[in-house]
Amino acid sequence: MKTGRSEEGWVQVAVEDTGPGISEENLSRLFTPFFSTKPPGEGTGLGLFICRQIAERMGGRIDVRSRPGEGATFILSLKPAG
Ligand SMILES: Nc1ncnc2c1ncn2[C@@H]1O[C@H](COP(=O)(O)OP(=O)(O)OP(=O)(O)O)[C@@H](O)[C@H]1O
Ligand SMILES: [Mg+2]
Repeated sequence: MKTGRSEEGWVQVAVEDTGPGISEENLSRLFTPFFSTKPPGEGTGLGLFICRQIAERMGGRIDVRSRPGEGATFILSLKPAG
C-alpha cells in the first residue's frame, strides 16, 4: 500500500497486487454491478461497485490501473478535509 497526493492535492491510497491483471475489455466493466469473472455462485460482482459508490459519496473516486500479467493497482482518491 502506498499513500500520496495527486497533482490537485487529493489524498491518495494505492493498493497493488501481483495477481493475473485485468484485460482491457474487463477494465471497462469492472465497476459495473454484477460483473464478475468468478464461477457462478462465487462472486456477486458487487464488491468494486459498492467500493466506488462509497468513495463517490464521500466526494472521492476509485480508479484502477492494470494490464494482463502485470497485477493490478486500485487508487482511492479523497479530497483533503477543510
Ligand atoms: N485485483 C484484481 N485483479 C484482477 N481482477 C480483478 C481484481 N479485482 C477485481 N477483479 C475483476 O473484477 C471483477 C469484479 O470484481 P468485484 O469485486 O466487483 O466482484 P467479484 O470479486 O467478482 O465478486 P465479490 O466482490 O462479490 O466477491 C472480478 O470478478 C474480477 O474479474
Ligand atoms: Mg470482489
